Amino acid sequence: MNGEAIPAPLLPTPLLEVRQLAMHFPISEGIVLNRKIGEVKAVDGVDFTINRGETLGLVGESGCGKTTTGRCILRLERPTAGQILFDGRDVNRMERQELTALRRRVQVIFQDPYSSLNPRMKVGDIIGEPIKVHGVERDPRRRRDRVRELLSVCGLDPKFTDRYPHEMSGGQRQRVGIARALALDPEFIVCDEAVSALDVSIQAQVINLLEDLRERFGLTYLFIAHDLSVVRHLCQRVAVMYLGRIVEMADSDELFDNPLHPYTQALLSAVPVPDPRIEAARAFRPPRGEVPSPINPPSGCVFHPRCPMAVDGCKQARPVLRELRPRHWVACSEVN
Ligand SMILES: Nc1ncnc2c1ncn2[C@@H]1O[C@H](COP(=O)(O)OP(=O)(O)OP(=O)(O)O)[C@@H](O)[C@H]1O
Ligand SMILES: [Mg+2]
Repeated sequence: MNGEAIPAPLLPTPLLEVRQLAMHFPISEGIVLNRKIGEVKAVDGVDFTINRGETLGLVGESGCGKTTTGRCILRLERPTAGQILFDGRDVNRMERQELTALRRRVQVIFQDPYSSLNPRMKVGDIIGEPIKVHGVERDPRRRRDRVRELLSVCGLDPKFTDRYPHEMSGGQRQRVGIARALALDPEFIVCDEAVSALDVSIQAQVINLLEDLRERFGLTYLFIAHDLSVVRHLCQRVAVMYLGRIVEMADSDELFDNPLHPYTQALLSAVPVPDPRIEAARAFRPPRGEVPSPINPPSGCVFHPRCPMAVDGCKQARPVLRELRPRHWVACSEVN
């Protein structure tokens, strides 16, 4: 740092700030007394920010808390602790009016459009519904025009308005899911495994579409995924989660070329396969051993039971994220 101030307009502005987020689900026993006998620490102290126009990838093995993090951002869960600031405002303190605005400004795209799209509704109604509910366009004809425009923006023929989801392919359905997410002109989209269920060739098309939309509409994404090759292509920065915590976070190329945390290294250790189909199918190569349960997570560093570098101290002290290289954060006391 040479100490020179960066002119304000050039500073990246955070659209989303997640601070010390924790989501512990109670486990209870008995119907009458409903006694709490423990808790699932699905998310346990997560911090990150996403700047306007940026895509942050969130990766990690099944059950590490990715979806729960996304649901907290969407205010579908009330976190146990921590804060989520959207555009500087705490989402859990928002009152009705602000919350209604948040429901427009923040959208989600799910993995499986088949289960998230109402099978009894025509595509035109699926996409038009949020526009109607939020009173964005009351005139039916103009609403239909808007739906047709959204379809074409997402690479679908406007005549698809009269189709049902089951009459479309997986890739087309996911485009409908994207069109619906765009219907209210959002600023931020949580993409939760948005392309994971699609064939590799279709995945690439949908990824390209998401990237085009980001540029065209100035969108910001949290991109949750298993497939590391997809993440590298789409995300400017990547955060790696393990058992409810972020263990490493860096710019995408830096993370893939120079992983510092032993967990990330294990994930990336398999030699890349030149055939993109095999590479994509490989997706996620978790390190050996079972992921411990988030009900009774290991003490200290939660990765220590599986870690090849673990020393005694790792069982006691919980490592915090430290910036070991510029913009490269690692939660490991053994890496310097
Ligand atoms: N409502 C809930 N009540 C209790 N436990 C829950 C609840 N929702 C999630 N969990 C648990 O929290 C942990 C994190 O789940 P989450 O769905 O966030 O993981 P994930 O990283 O999205 O996994 P996947 O890759 O399989 O989608 C899991 O152990 C899960 O069983
Ligand atoms: Mg999930």
